[in-house]
Amino acid sequence: QPLEAAEEEVSLQGYEHYMLKEIYEQPESLKNAMRGRLDEENATAVFGGLNLTPQQLRSVERIILTGCGTSWHSALVGEYLIEELARIPVCVEYASELRYRNPPIENNTLVFGITQSGETADTLAALRETKRKGHRTLALCNVVGSSIAQAADGGVYLHAGPEIGVASTKAYTSQCCVLAMLALYFGRIRHLSFEAGRNIIRDLQQAPGAVQEALNCNEHVKTVAEKYKDATNILYLGRQYNFPTALEGALKLKEISYVHAEGYPAAEMKHGPIALVDEKTPSVFIIPQGTTYDKVMANMEEVKARGGPIIAVASKNDPHIEAVADDVIHIPDVPAIIQPIVSVVPLQLLSYHIALLRGCDVDKPRNLAKSVTVE
Ligand code: G6P
Repeated sequence: QPLEAAEEEVSLQGYEHYMLKEIYEQPESLKNAMRGRLDEENATAVFGGLNLTPQQLRSVERIILTGCGTSWHSALVGEYLIEELARIPVCVEYASELRYRNPPIENNTLVFGITQSGETADTLAALRETKRKGHRTLALCNVVGSSIAQAADGGVYLHAGPEIGVASTKAYTSQCCVLAMLALYFGRIRHLSFEAGRNIIRDLQQAPGAVQEALNCNEHVKTVAEKYKDATNILYLGRQYNFPTALEGALKLKEISYVHAEGYPAAEMKHGPIALVDEKTPSVFIIPQGTTYDKVMANMEEVKARGGPIIAVASKNDPHIEAVADDVIHIPDVPAIIQPIVSVVPLQLLSYHIALLRGCDVDKPRNLAKSVTVE
């Protein structure tokens, strides 16, 4: 559907841009992603359209997650979640590479195409190619009845509602949420106990409220954006569940502000990117409470020692962060599996405000299209 036609149907509802509206819709879009899918009685998730029997799903020995752009980042989150909660080996593939590579794919491999639009040419081709070879393919997509939804054997809709801004926001957090529910589902037909399943459901249910709370940072993020709007290069660093968040934060900035940004696993800094650090190159650290907190803090101190300005996205009760970071954006303290959903919110807002301050067209950035239906 052309952007203009979609725009006519979806009003801005008082927001200045679709991107901002879609960022603020996330508490609601997350509820919609979970509606009817959390089965507390059986401590699992339920999906109507996988079109596979529990026996077939139980026999899955490997999962391939494929997509492009932001959807590829949610695939990385999915890799961490599915391996951790369901103990199934996962590979993440760029759809554009997968379609022309000829990787040996074992029997009992399930291939998920992850896509907001359901029309991305590379994702469609990658799914068709794997399906042709006899593998089961599923779509994780937002647009109902889209080409990828039709091409796959089954799938899960995101129910995020129309996303008009070219830079994906609410579709990304819904993808992360659906992948967490899939990890729960696969875990529960394997080794996860009832109790563990229940706890995961409780964790997931916190996501909409936590995102709502995270949105309170908007005014503060605006002041941070003013301070750093003239940077020509920004690094984004995080670990584990927040490594994909670092990639996604950097991509958002590149897409709509045209500022060069790099996302890295924080510990990889010492293997190259730390050479970029100087007083003109800010680093955004995603450093919520959790098992890698101390390690990321050590990486942050290394950047500080080299004179790099630091913006930290940290848990609201972190007593140590102010002493090291130049600017702190607080987010609620949430369980690890929903951290990617919550910690990306300030990064979406940061890119939005920097883009606005630089006079960029936030909803229709140059050279980009909402769905890329050509190679
Ligand atoms: C385009 C958009 C990106 C998006 C990517 C994948 O490049 O500009 O924002 O992440 O396509 O789109 P999809 O609809 O497959 O998620």
